[in-house]
Amino acid sequence: MIEILPSLLAADFARLGEQIAQVTEAGVNFLHFDVMDGHFVPNISFGVPVLQSLRKSTKLAIDVHLMIEDADTYAPMFVAAGADCVSVHQEACPHLDRTIRMIQSEGARAGVVLNPATPLVTVENVLPLVDYILLMSVNPGFGGQSFIPYVLEKVRALREQRERLGLSFSIEIDGGVSVDNVGRVAEAGVDWVVAGSSVFGAPNPAHAVTAMRQAAMD
Ligand code: DX5
Ligand code: ZN
Repeated sequence: MIEILPSLLAADFARLGEQIAQVTEAGVNFLHFDVMDGHFVPNISFGVPVLQSLRKSTKLAIDVHLMIEDADTYAPMFVAAGADCVSVHQEACPHLDRTIRMIQSEGARAGVVLNPATPLVTVENVLPLVDYILLMSVNPGFGGQSFIPYVLEKVRALREQRERLGLSFSIEIDGGVSVDNVGRVAEAGVDWVVAGSSVFGAPNPAHAVTAMRQAAMD
């Protein structure tokens, strides 16, 4: 069963509690929380204090996607603030092995993110360590961009690699996923689908989640 992870980046921040209640009603198990530092990506979003407030107001698992240069300094703060999963970009982490182990020892599931143009071979050696791999299907920094189709090839290759190695990490995709392409995304072998504008940009976010889940099964 595919998981839909609503991305709070596309939510109305003045009505965050209400928006979370809407997707909770649709039965999601995770929220996706995009942290941007204005350096690794050309945008700034939100950080630890917002996560702390969120942690008090929801029991859903929170998947923190760190689009920041200094993940080693900040990842433990996000775990302490209540993150259940923390992912870091391969492109920003020169000591990836150490960073993954650090996140896990702090008590969260650890993921590694690859930008669309970063090949899978860059994470080959850490596949036995990670809890999940997040494949970006847009260039990170902004919601509402178009899906980059060649990422589906990466999903298929990663799924095959996982099978061959007998591993059980989850495969996540992020960017430009909508009710129109989620069928292809699910078919390629994704476990977790992040959806921002297609959920919170819809008139009814709960219905949008249900429609995406349905389209993923068709
Ligand atoms: C992009 C973020 C995404 C973003 C996705 O840099 O990592 O999580 O919220 O938004 P949509 O689904 O609108 O492409
Ligand atoms: Zn994200």
